[in-house]
Amino acid sequence: MATKLKVLVVGGGGREHALCWALARSPSVGEVICAPGNAGIAEVARCVPVKADECVQVADLADAENVDLVVVGPEGPLVAGLADLLQARGRAVFGCSRAAAEIEGSKTFAKELMARHSIPTAAFGAFSQLPEAELFLDELMRAEGAERVVIKADGLAAGKGVVIAGGLAEAKSELRKMLAGETVGDAGRRVIIEEFLDGREASLMALVDGERVAPLVPAEDHKTVFDGDTGPMTGGMGVVSPTPVMSDLEVARAVREVLEPTARGLAAEGRPFRGLLYAGLMLTRRGPKVLEFNCRFGDPETQVLMARLDEDLGLLLHAVATGRPVERVRFSERAAVCVVMTAPGYPGGYPTGIPIAGLDAAARVDGVTVFHAGTRRDGDRIVTAGGRVLGVTAVGEDVDDARARAYRAVDAITFQGAHFRTDIGRRSP
Ligand code: AMP
Ligand code: GLY
Repeated sequence: MATKLKVLVVGGGGREHALCWALARSPSVGEVICAPGNAGIAEVARCVPVKADECVQVADLADAENVDLVVVGPEGPLVAGLADLLQARGRAVFGCSRAAAEIEGSKTFAKELMARHSIPTAAFGAFSQLPEAELFLDELMRAEGAERVVIKADGLAAGKGVVIAGGLAEAKSELRKMLAGETVGDAGRRVIIEEFLDGREASLMALVDGERVAPLVPAEDHKTVFDGDTGPMTGGMGVVSPTPVMSDLEVARAVREVLEPTARGLAAEGRPFRGLLYAGLMLTRRGPKVLEFNCRFGDPETQVLMARLDEDLGLLLHAVATGRPVERVRFSERAAVCVVMTAPGYPGGYPTGIPIAGLDAAARVDGVTVFHAGTRRDGDRIVTAGGRVLGVTAVGEDVDDARARAYRAVDAITFQGAHFRTDIGRRSP
């Protein structure tokens, strides 16, 4: 490439910090701009105070800076049509169209798409009326003898719209609350009731352009807030990659049975996907089944994947954005572990503005990069500005080594009420 790429990254969380960090290290990239970014991103990119979901302002910024590539981090702007707007203005964009983003924006759409294309997933029903929903619940739990059932809000709920209920009474009460808008507001006025799947969970992401699918390495997220997979669901408390949960054979099977038919199905239905397709999978005894699709990089999965990536990220994303094929994405053999530090109270309400100490000491631990999720600069201090605050990420020879380094760095960081799980990467294979 004759001239170096000028790239605009949209978003301001841990995922975007990891993307900006990897882009800034890419030989093909000359400059990284981030809107709006955060205190950590400001160390590797030029931050501009434009919010990610202000689509017109983002597009205006891309024009004013005449960037060569826009990389969209969060799902909100994709669901709102940011990629379409940028493309209409002639910009290369890594991020899918509004039509394709429905795979994340509407769980009903995703489930029905899977049904139409025989993509393995849990049995389900979609409802907006309580009586019909209760009938379906009764049938699933009484007739089929299921002990647990899953109730999901149809709309976007930042990873918090899923309840696993342990019996009919609990299921009915959760259902009533969600449909009444009491759990996650309007996102829950339509719900999916789903068969409970037993197995091990893994996240598998791929660069997708129409029918072309280039898988990344799998990662294992830890979704609940407390150790031992207990407590309420969050957006993700920590990630490990590689994961013993998913073998190379299982990855190949999931590409064949899930990612490729999904890409083909979307293309056949006139919604070709261009960007990052994320499959949340349950690896059951009967093969991989889809828990959810996301239309963007996972957070915090991206933090560990960028730490292991053995490629020029700028070249990869630019290739997808301009319709050039990507054959294979290489990752180092080393392991990476990300431990998320959160504000007290998360995933419920939490305070912000808490000063953070020890970031420099943490960054000095060999192999460690501290990705900022919810932080901002306040004078010469860095303070918390979100629920998930930091993604402390380490690479090592193997998972144990990476885990030890990550927790050494976590121990160096202090802020009042800081919470993190102590068991990321410690589960038995
Ligand atoms: P989702 O947002 O749909 O991925 O759901 C969030 C989390 O809820 C998943 O990561 C799983 O841990 C759990 N979950 C969702 N659906 C099911 C299911 N059908 N069976 C078991 N666990 C589930
Ligand atoms: N870590 C889960 C997600 O990005 O949705």
